[in-house]
Amino acid sequence: MIEEYFIKDGRFEIDGLGIEKIAAAHETPFYLYSAGMIREKHRKFTSHFPGFDVFYSFKANPGLAICNTLRSLGSCADVSSLGEIQAALKVGFRPENIAFVGPGKTARDLEFAIDSGVYAIAAESVHEIELIDEISKRLGKPVDVLLRINTQEKPISPEMMVGGPSKFGFDEETVVGEVRPLRLESARLSGIHVYSASQVLDTSFICDHLEYVRDLAVRLSEEIGFELRAIDFGGGFGVPYQEGDQELDLSPISRVASSVRRSLAGSHPECRLIFEVGRYLVAESGIFVTRALRVKRSRGICYIITDGGMNHFSRPVFMRVKHRLGILNKIGQPAESKCNVGGPICTPIDFLGKDVMLPRPEPGDLIGVFGAGAYGYSMSVLKFMSLGTPAEVMADQGSVRVIRKAATAESFFPGQSL
Ligand SMILES: Cc1ncc(COP(=O)(O)O)c(C=O)c1O
Repeated sequence: MIEEYFIKDGRFEIDGLGIEKIAAAHETPFYLYSAGMIREKHRKFTSHFPGFDVFYSFKANPGLAICNTLRSLGSCADVSSLGEIQAALKVGFRPENIAFVGPGKTARDLEFAIDSGVYAIAAESVHEIELIDEISKRLGKPVDVLLRINTQEKPISPEMMVGGPSKFGFDEETVVGEVRPLRLESARLSGIHVYSASQVLDTSFICDHLEYVRDLAVRLSEEIGFELRAIDFGGGFGVPYQEGDQELDLSPISRVASSVRRSLAGSHPECRLIFEVGRYLVAESGIFVTRALRVKRSRGICYIITDGGMNHFSRPVFMRVKHRLGILNKIGQPAESKCNVGGPICTPIDFLGKDVMLPRPEPGDLIGVFGAGAYGYSMSVLKFMSLGTPAEVMADQGSVRVIRKAATAESFFPGQSL
């Protein structure tokens, strides 16, 4: 499981560094990332999918150093806002390796994307295609468009984005009638995009999805009448967050992916095959590190009150995911106390973990919340209760550096008026 990667000789170690040393140099709470683990996850993923391009989903963790690590490994960029396009360009992603995907793009966002020369834009409605075409013509910059499809795949999880009525994309059964009549002057239909669900741990769902989307892409290109140059299969590759979650086995998916690739090679040799991948690459590399301020009992239950809470790391509360926790300075010790770990926020919903078995806790202990590398910092309610924002630090080959500074609540004052 996740933690094992970080245990060396019975101690918590991240990229060659002990936690005490890191915590002595950086005030808690902070996000701690392992560059080594990002590299390892990227290597593992790409080795299973030769011939596919990995587009790193910035929304999972838009930290520039994280994105840059993935760029240097060969990833392209999957972005969903103007800010993410700007971040991708700043980090050095080439425009032809940036895909712009998202249900609510403004005319300004589209203009910036097209003017920057991004590789493709996923369009989700006729209105959006017309707007893209109009902007592309006005700027004199042709652009490729992928049709985002709300498929008829069977829903398997509450986080499903296709299958029923959806705010995402064109319905599979009506897209031909909606898109075939369009006469585009500057934008070019070049493929389809299907992102079905997030945090999928069901191997067979992903295998079926690949074949389904391949068949759909071929059929739609024929029925609508465009040359198939790209298929964006989305992804939704999940990670084991909670006790009992199994690691996703990529091998069967890899076999289906190669057969999908081979089946297209003859008829569509130029077709670019794309996965959009966020959490699979970065979630497990990140740990939210917070310090125990108090340890107390209430009516028989042990409570650890930490200096970091749901404001800094909102996922356990928002997404109701029981992230695994550990006392990082006691990692080898037997877990003998059942504890609730709650932060400094004045609401009973502020918990990082409940009923967690831990070694005997004491004030000063360093509590690590695992699986915090994706949808952590950027998805949290960082300004709540004016507690400031945590730093993000990255460990890499024996050294650690701040990749985003902490901020005090005073930094929230500018921009406000009395
Ligand atoms: C369209 C799209 N692509 C990619 C992603 C990234 O998903 P994940 O981080 O689970 O890989 C998401 C997540 O919601 C998404 O909506």
